[in-house]
Amino acid sequence: MPPPQPATWTYAEDYIREDEVLTAARARSEEVGVVPIGSGGGAALRLLAALIDARAVVEIGTGTGVSGTWLIRGMRPDGVLTTVDIETEHQRLARETFNEAGIPAPRVRTIAGAALDVLPRLTDGHYDLVFADGDKAEYSAYLKEAMRLLRPGGVVVFDNALWHDRVADPSQRDAETTAIRDLGREVAESDDLVAALFPVGDGLLVAKKVWVAEPE
Ligand SMILES: C[S@@+](CC[C@H](N)C(=O)[O-])C[C@H]1O[C@@H](n2cnc3c(N)ncnc32)[C@H](O)[C@@H]1O
Repeated sequence: MPPPQPATWTYAEDYIREDEVLTAARARSEEVGVVPIGSGGGAALRLLAALIDARAVVEIGTGTGVSGTWLIRGMRPDGVLTTVDIETEHQRLARETFNEAGIPAPRVRTIAGAALDVLPRLTDGHYDLVFADGDKAEYSAYLKEAMRLLRPGGVVVFDNALWHDRVADPSQRDAETTAIRDLGREVAESDDLVAALFPVGDGLLVAKKVWVAEPE
């Protein structure tokens, strides 16, 4: 099958249009040098959260709230997003976004800190979905935390799984590319996950934590 033309990618990315709240959040991202998820990835996050009726979601890498807004828009109306970022300024801007989106304050729990300090403090088996978009070199550690945090049947999602076309190119061996490539292999080979790598945006790796049969 021939590769899709750039116009096809653009059409797919723009298939679900973003509103003025997300446009403003993207402008804030640009101001502080954050690269948010693309609109296709955002729409996929919203769909995933809606498909599983997510009530409790963890996000690693709040940025200025683009992905968080998409997630909340797919979650149950009583759902709570717990979002972690090492930069308090990014979270301040994200709160502006959530406010402009009309999201009630109790529906978002922002926690400032390094992900690997914060995640161990969150409750085991409590979460329906974990979305990872923080430090790429830490993706494998985020997977370990996600496996502990997710309920059986929960879903883990990694953005930038194709990392600017570098993951598919074996000559690219920098630390971030290697970490993402290793993560992809680990997820694909895991007996505890059912996975697919979607070439949406910069690549969205999605995996479901399998149900474990209760002992008789
Ligand atoms: C790509 S941006 C996130 C964008 C956001 N998910 C969105 O789509 O709107 C990555 C974010 O991760 C944060 N970050 C980087 N390293 C981190 C770490 N070790 N722990 C927590 N957050 C981290 C950065 O401050 C930045 O805001």
